[in-house]
Amino acid sequence: MIISDDDKNKRQKSARREFLADLPTSKHLDKEKSQNLEAKEVEFDKTYEKNIRPKTFDEYIGQSALKETLKITIEASKKRNIPLDHLLFYGPPGLGKTTLAGVIANEIGVNIKITSAPALERPRDIIGILMSLKGGEILFIDEIHRLNKVAEEILYPAMEDFFIDLTTGKSQSVKTMRVPVPKFTLIGATTKAGALSGPLRDRFGIIHRLEFYTIEELADVIKRSAKILNIKIDNEGAKEIASRSRATPRIANRLIKRTADYALVKYDGKITKIIAKEALDSLCIDNLGLDNTDRALLELIIKNYDGGPVGIETLSVALGEDIRTIEDVYEPYLLQKGLLARTNRGRRATKAAYKHLGIDYLEQNGQMGLF
Ligand code: ADE
Repeated sequence: MIISDDDKNKRQKSARREFLADLPTSKHLDKEKSQNLEAKEVEFDKTYEKNIRPKTFDEYIGQSALKETLKITIEASKKRNIPLDHLLFYGPPGLGKTTLAGVIANEIGVNIKITSAPALERPRDIIGILMSLKGGEILFIDEIHRLNKVAEEILYPAMEDFFIDLTTGKSQSVKTMRVPVPKFTLIGATTKAGALSGPLRDRFGIIHRLEFYTIEELADVIKRSAKILNIKIDNEGAKEIASRSRATPRIANRLIKRTADYALVKYDGKITKIIAKEALDSLCIDNLGLDNTDRALLELIIKNYDGGPVGIETLSVALGEDIRTIEDVYEPYLLQKGLLARTNRGRRATKAAYKHLGIDYLEQNGQMGLF
């Protein structure tokens, strides 16, 4: 179908009218604001495990380079008496992006409002939350790469010059009105920094990647959580759980609870290396921290596709997992462990993956590699 320029103009105008009409007018903003905040905001301490979440930099284990950068930035902004620069954290899920945002708010002594991009679907969602902020407060937007274009465009002037454009009137007599918003700090979090639009990325003063945790760091996280939760654990037990936690504190904290249940029901409650091993084996979590899905993914590539390369779409259909889950949850750790490789023709299982699964590796030249 050929669309004339005239038609195109009409459609663009109508789309713009719809967009503007969807913005809350200053008249009904207060009502919208309170409804949105109730529905969409997630209060920091309520949703997350209140007690074990670190509140200060001293309590927060790991990410030491980032912590040092943040301490200096916070100190400087306090001395200058200005809000902290907007921050973007990226990296695989579970590494503590939200936790760190909470720590920053606590260290500065300001409130934090937490939301996520999929909850900011309509213009009024983002406008409502921006208008509700008080000076110096932190707005945390999770999965910020999923923000839609309209929400992004509302955010740009708010981030840069602390104002937003609101509309008044209806259809023909629609007018935009420039409204100031309090000076705030946006902390964005994403598992996919590459999926962020250039203009949005450029508006962050600090962009930082969160790193996977070492076994020692995770063992410290586990011992800290165990103390708070009144769980008895020795050093070796903590290390055993740490080594099976996919280098991720969120997983470590989950596994400590499962292991504590096991220790309590089957033994005297104290977690030792042997008990941790037994408990995690019973949950099908192996010595590298892989679960059934990780192993199924590698086995599929090896057994059905001769080790790859194979496209992510094919893997998604065969495993019954959506592409985003494979990319965001499973792949980062498998890549980090050198079990999976990404090529421009798809995913390939590495020699280390064959070894881990106990499958013979056929070298390119036809010789059998033995493990
Ligand atoms: N719990 C989850 N993440 C943590 C961290 N980085 N430090 C201490 N406890 C945690």
